[in-house]
Amino acid sequence: MYRLTFSGDEDLLDVVLPLLPAGVHADGDDFVAFSGAPFPPAVLQATGGAVDEVPADWRHRQVGSGVVISGVVSIRAPFERASGAPIDVVVERRGSAFGSGSHPTTQMCVALLLELEPGGGVADLGCGVGTLAIVAAKLGWAPVVGVDRVPVAIEVARENVERNGVQVDVAVADLAVDDVPLAEVLLVNAPPPVHERVAGALTEQVRHVIVSGIVSHEVEDVVKRYGERGFKVAKALGTEDEWIALRLSC
Ligand SMILES: C[S@@+](CC[C@H](N)C(=O)[O-])C[C@H]1O[C@@H](n2cnc3c(N)ncnc32)[C@H](O)[C@@H]1O
Repeated sequence: MYRLTFSGDEDLLDVVLPLLPAGVHADGDDFVAFSGAPFPPAVLQATGGAVDEVPADWRHRQVGSGVVISGVVSIRAPFERASGAPIDVVVERRGSAFGSGSHPTTQMCVALLLELEPGGGVADLGCGVGTLAIVAAKLGWAPVVGVDRVPVAIEVARENVERNGVQVDVAVADLAVDDVPLAEVLLVNAPPPVHERVAGALTEQVRHVIVSGIVSHEVEDVVKRYGERGFKVAKALGTEDEWIALRLSC
């Protein structure tokens, strides 16, 4: 059994994930992949990572314990150790589907959601493999729905929902054209065109929109779109590399 350890960003993962059928696990700031056969040269070249041989027994291959957000929510891969955090979310990611929990936008959305008292429904718009929707359901929000335009993401999201034993309805939908599902809280970790469409669809049912997937120069326009529908910034978070997350409330 071989282990590959490398560092990089989401763009690199988009390139190498199709070549790593067993998936990639976050381990602190690094990524780790396992393979029973030597890794393809293309993967080694793209990642510049280090390979070492490890025992085939899965217990010896456990890596990290995912991420823990605000000391309350742990998000980890199936092969990672439980951290002991009160809410333990186990998600698998496959192919180009997004949502291992390792991205700061996902983590900031969770941190903002944790500041709300659960009560009512949540819609995760651009749900990827269902990570945020599953967190919401485990926190006690109901009903919870999620949509994404990538079919494989929804396929994996269904598996993740079952794996976590929660009630979440996920479906394929393109938020550029399809109806926008609404709820008391919307989780929208998605690019600006999705925010434009969501803002245009808001009704009185929606109390809070947790917005991410945007960088600092996109904030003004996104805030303006939601502002036109009566939503104001209640809390803002950001990372050094410019990712922004906002809670907008009305
Ligand atoms: C940054 S990822 C967030 C995934 C997940 N919510 C999370 O935080 O882990 C953005 C997601 O939005 C989805 N997306 C982008 N444009 C979309 C659209 N027009 N309709 C539906 N989903 C879309 C992408 O497929 C991707 O899964």
